[in-house]
This record gives sequence, structure tokens and C-alpha cells, in this order.
Amino acid sequence: MKGLGALLLGGAALAVLPAARAAPLRAPPGASSCSGCHAAHGEGAFGPIAGRPAAEIEEALAAYRAGARPASVMTRIAKGFTPEESRAIAVYLSQQGAP
Ligand code: HEC
Repeated sequence: MKGLGALLLGGAALAVLPAARAAPLRAPPGASSCSGCHAAHGEGAFGPIAGRPAAEIEEALAAYRAGARPASVMTRIAKGFTPEESRAIAVYLSQQGAP
């Protein structure tokens, strides 16, 4: 009976383990500034960015930051973010509704 008790206790302990929950995705700092020019549904002055692959957005920002991609305003904007911040913004925007 000792063995069964331990088994039951073990089962109870497992049952109360909190389920792993995914943290809700919050907009990282700076992400909301993009939508003024890149609105999600094409109503912005420039192409929509939301829903694009994160790697594509991140690469574009890195190229703008390095001055390797011709730009009017994006070089200045991209320079305002570190690579880590750019990645967080890219991941966030990629998970927003596609246009
Ligand atoms: C003041 C308006 C403005 C804001 C704010 C802005 N962008 Fe841009 N974005 C542009 C313009 C204009 C271009 C075209 C390149 C250029 O002339 O700078 C562009 C181009 C891009 C491109 C390349 C699009 C393509 O089709 O190749 C990406 C990616 C991008 N922006 C991401 C962002 C992100 C991310 C943010 C927020 C951190 C942002 N932009 C904020 C105006 C803006």
C-alpha cells in the first residue's frame, strides 16, 4: 500500500503543476511608431510591413542602419534602434495581421 500512496501523491503533485502559458505578445518599444507610415492595410503612405517575415523586416532595418540600402527616412529611423530592438520589432510586426 505504501507504493500506491506514493503513486497517488505523485499524481496529485503533477496535477497541480501550473500549465506553461505563453506570455501575451506586447508591442516592443518603437513598434507603434512604424504604423504611422506603414499602416497594416495599405492605408499608410508607404507599403504595409505587418505580416511580412520577421527576417525580411530585420534585414531591411539592418541594411538601412548600415546605410547599405538607399532610403529617404528609414536610415534615420533604423539608426534609432539597436539590432536587438529591431529584431523585437520585426518579430512583433511579422505576427500582426497580414494586409
Ligand atoms: C516617417 C515615415 C516612416 C516611418 C515612421 C517608418 N517608415 Fe519604414 N519606410 C518609410 C519609407 C519612405 C520607406 C522607403 C525607403 C525610404 O525612402 O526611406 C520605408 C521602407 C521600409 C521598409 C522596406 C519596405 C520594402 O518594401 O522594401 C521596411 C522593412 C520598413 N520601412 C520598416 C519600418 C519599421 C520597422 C518602422 C518602425 C521602426 C518604420 N519602417 C517606420 C517610411 C517610414
